[in-house]
Amino acid sequence: MRVLSSFSWVPLSLASSTPKTAAPYMQLWIGATNLRMDEKRGGKEPLAKEREGSVRFKPEVHQMQQLVTTGTSGGWENCWEQGLTPWDLGRPTPIILHLHQTGALPKGRALVPGCGSGYDVVAMACSERYVVGLDVSHTAIEKAIELSSSLPNSSYFTFLKADFFTWHPPELFDLIFDYTFFCAIKPEMRSKWACKVQEMLKPDGELLTLIFPISDHVGGPPYKVSVSDYEEALHPMGFKAVTIVDNELAIEARKGREKFGRWRRDTTQSLI
Ligand SMILES: C[S@@+](CC[C@H](N)C(=O)[O-])C[C@H]1O[C@@H](n2cnc3c(N)ncnc32)[C@H](O)[C@@H]1O
Repeated sequence: MRVLSSFSWVPLSLASSTPKTAAPYMQLWIGATNLRMDEKRGGKEPLAKEREGSVRFKPEVHQMQQLVTTGTSGGWENCWEQGLTPWDLGRPTPIILHLHQTGALPKGRALVPGCGSGYDVVAMACSERYVVGLDVSHTAIEKAIELSSSLPNSSYFTFLKADFFTWHPPELFDLIFDYTFFCAIKPEMRSKWACKVQEMLKPDGELLTLIFPISDHVGGPPYKVSVSDYEEALHPMGFKAVTIVDNELAIEARKGREKFGRWRRDTTQSLI
């Protein structure tokens, strides 16, 4: 069993790997958010606490897990209300900024399920791509709206409070981007997740996943994931991996435990 010295959703330093090419409004927004996060923690990171044998969890992660797993359906909402959001980078995911800036993301309509504070929603939104950020937490959606409403691209995205598993979009999507949503749901929900992805994507649409945390820890969220966990869920829905690569742009604390996957529906069978 691999022993990790710490298990964290969030790196100690967020600012150091901010891409220099980020749009100016994005850099201002990132700085302001990080400052608030630092103030909330009194400028100190909580001490790590050993849990589940091989993995060390921060107390904040442990409290969040208690709320989500022992609470009723309002567990995520409680986390947001109490500011227990250890996964929150306080800025867009670097690889999403990179793919957006290099024109490597599908255009059209995009969905970010479990969008949290919505940084990735805003990062992808542009005149050629309308992005919907969905979260079951009312507080998360309020925060996302508050952080983003005055941004210049605000007419190219929207935030909705809805449950991914019961929501029916008015139109299908060209792109679904999943980061830390698959690992947040209970493993027994993964087939249903894949079913909803299949239902919400256009037949030629693309699913992008950041496969994290690749680990051997017990419990969650985040529940441990592997490429085969995604394959097991997605293959029955007709999805095949187009690319699976190590995410070289992962934040420092997640490097080596994160892969980037692009998935498309395999249409060859229907041509035979
Ligand atoms: C681990 S957080 C990740 C947030 C965001 N993707 C990020 O990386 O910062 C998981 C998010 O999924 C949301 N969530 C959990 N279950 C959900 C559901 N059934 N439908 C929509 N959102 C859900 C939670 O409220 C939470 O904001």
